[in-house]
Amino acid sequence: MILDIISKKANKYELTKEELETIFLGYLKDEVKDYQMSAFLMAICINDMSDSEIFALTDIFIKSGDILDLSFIDDIKVDKHSTGGVGDKTTLIVAPLVASCNIPVIKMSGRGLGYTGGTIDKLESIPGFVVDLSEEKIKKQAKDIAIVVTSQTKDLAPLDKKVYALRDVTATTNSIPLIASSIMSKKIAGGADKIVIDIKVGNGALIKTKEAAERLSSLLIKIGTYYQKEVRTVISNMDRPLGHNIGNKLEVMEALDVLKGNVKGELLDLSLELASKMVSLGKGISEKEARKEVTENLENGKALNKFLEFVKYQHGDIDNLNIEAKIYNIKSNKNGVLKDINALAIAKLSESLGAGRKSKDDKIDYNAGIVIKKDIGEEIKEGDILATLYTNIDDPKFNLEKIFEIS
Ligand code: URA
Repeated sequence: MILDIISKKANKYELTKEELETIFLGYLKDEVKDYQMSAFLMAICINDMSDSEIFALTDIFIKSGDILDLSFIDDIKVDKHSTGGVGDKTTLIVAPLVASCNIPVIKMSGRGLGYTGGTIDKLESIPGFVVDLSEEKIKKQAKDIAIVVTSQTKDLAPLDKKVYALRDVTATTNSIPLIASSIMSKKIAGGADKIVIDIKVGNGALIKTKEAAERLSSLLIKIGTYYQKEVRTVISNMDRPLGHNIGNKLEVMEALDVLKGNVKGELLDLSLELASKMVSLGKGISEKEARKEVTENLENGKALNKFLEFVKYQHGDIDNLNIEAKIYNIKSNKNGVLKDINALAIAKLSESLGAGRKSKDDKIDYNAGIVIKKDIGEEIKEGDILATLYTNIDDPKFNLEKIFEIS
């Protein structure tokens, strides 16, 4: 039976929901083996999935675990997701911005596996910050201050987690239908009414081409429509890191700077765009009207105050965000103009400094990371500092030419 299902997909036939259930639920119960699921996932990568197969798979993922009930909040709940990027600290900026506009943000976030930390790692780098809240605490905090970011208390889409771990080691992570059902199953199980998704595209992202990003965008919207959840997407560049700081504590510092109004550029623009889409969905107003409100709350300090209130509520001590690490500078070895900063190379360097995890039990050094000191298009002189590295390892290794393109 399992072999019939695998060969049906390998021969480009459409599978029924029952067939998908047989193989995926069998995998969850360890009846279907890793090697069988690997072959099946590769057949999906090569032969794609129809819309009805994608809806069926999303449903199977959702029903494999808990579904969060956020009905204790009357307002529309809007969630945000990013497909993952280097220096992506937008949740830390966007969540308080949106909450300051009176749209509740209740977010279950993950730790990062791979080159950089996830939102939970970034928040946990704030001394004292508590990331694992009980359901009672989540409810109280949501009612009191309209913003909660917590690690997953419930077992949301455990089948996706198991399949994702296998995709990670079988070169099947970049299948667009698999990505779409993976993301949407977690968002729907997470209880949101409306969802904004930031699709990262570029060398530092899972999705490498604009065409693939556009296909993913249309699938995410279709799955949302199927579940009566409005989805809006943003496709944003990940050939270069987002912002200047990479690494957990350093990213919190940059997010704080954005909320203080001290940072302009791509990070601010993307944060405003995501927040405007969320407020527009939450209030049923145009994105233009929402952007006005969001920008006002950035400028009048309400978003910053919401962030400080949120950190304090979860016991974080933002005034003691000191970096305890040794400092190394990367200096330019020539004159020229900074043409490019390679996101993937920066991510690998950041991980080697201690800011990421290779396996899920690795410990992150929250102090480790990189601050990029120059912007694309800037004139560079030999000896100029291009980046500062923070690490507790001795003598970090890096390849200047792989990271910075100067000509
Ligand atoms: N993010 C997810 O949650 N799942 C994927 O498959 C890819 C990115």
